[in-house]
Amino acid sequence: MQSIIEKNKMWIDSTWEKVDKKLSQKAIKSRNKLPSTSKNGVHDDCSDRPDWWTNGFWGGMMWLMYEATGNIEYRKTAERSEQLLDKAFENFKGLYHDVGFMWHILSGASYRLTGDLSSCNRNLYAAASLFSRYNVDGEFISAWNWDCEEYSIIDCLMNIPLLYWASNEIGQDRFKRIAMKHMDMTIRDHIRPDGSVNHIVVHEMDRVGVKEVKAGQGYSSDSSWSRGVAWAVYGSVISYIYAGKKEYLEAAKRCADYFITECKKTEYLPLIDFKAPQVPVLYDSTAGVITACGLLEIAKYVSKEESEKYAQEAINLLRACDEKFCNYDDNEDCLVLMGSGRYPRDEADLDSVHVPVIYADFFFVESLCKLKERKFLIW
Ligand code: GLY
Repeated sequence: MQSIIEKNKMWIDSTWEKVDKKLSQKAIKSRNKLPSTSKNGVHDDCSDRPDWWTNGFWGGMMWLMYEATGNIEYRKTAERSEQLLDKAFENFKGLYHDVGFMWHILSGASYRLTGDLSSCNRNLYAAASLFSRYNVDGEFISAWNWDCEEYSIIDCLMNIPLLYWASNEIGQDRFKRIAMKHMDMTIRDHIRPDGSVNHIVVHEMDRVGVKEVKAGQGYSSDSSWSRGVAWAVYGSVISYIYAGKKEYLEAAKRCADYFITECKKTEYLPLIDFKAPQVPVLYDSTAGVITACGLLEIAKYVSKEESEKYAQEAINLLRACDEKFCNYDDNEDCLVLMGSGRYPRDEADLDSVHVPVIYADFFFVESLCKLKERKFLIW
């Protein structure tokens, strides 16, 4: 992996410089916002919608930048973000499976970097709320809060790192056991033999069993939502890092190999759904940057030859994103363009296709931090 990073050092350094230049200005400009997207080049603000699942990414990215640069302006914005997110704790019924996305990368990072005990507590309360969603008979963590208690979703793999962290923090295995149960279920019920994934699985409530598979954010129930595969790549390798079970690394590699094969067909620019009709051609930048983070972790736990392969494929995804999707114009707030919320089913869904989204920025920055040899895992 190191030789691949060395070969790409000039690109990594020059990209990092552009990112830091842009984000150091935005850190000040958007300090009092919780951005999820940009409209006409200006960050929106979800602070009036505190339980929105993307609300941790802006502050989380600020902690990444603070740690890498020591620039206090990043830290001030991260701390402000955490305060703004406290409103979400005022409505327990509004919390759902995405508390890992919301707090772990924000309060978890704050606690790790500053030792702030109130951040530690926020993260533990978030973990406790995720823990409470576990169905002991069906052996899965339940998604969302509407009439869907029997649903599990692939995205949840990126929330269970919060549970592993909580177990380490309190020195008891109970959170980790549930995380592993959910990971085992994901391998059994979500990840398909070819490495593509089911987005939503509808479970039996009183025993282990699948009732139905649903399309979710993909084109159809048997198609292949690319961000779902990306969550599976990164989430599975993180579970492997915390739990050490070799099946988790194998799952991560299976999904990674599938993702890479599909992306090569479109010059490393991921489609929203790999098995959707060929026209219209619809991209999702988020899938590529999330997968790149996963590949860079997988590369640490495999043979030298495989390590170079995964590191090179991560670079291929990131360079394609940099070239085609990144926006380094300092007059605009967004960094990565062309994210897509879901495969569009109607006119209204088109509003969330090919737009900037904050989690694309986060994972692009996270992957650059990994390439600049950050040793720890933020998740
Ligand atoms: N976690 C929601 C998504 O990936 O869109």
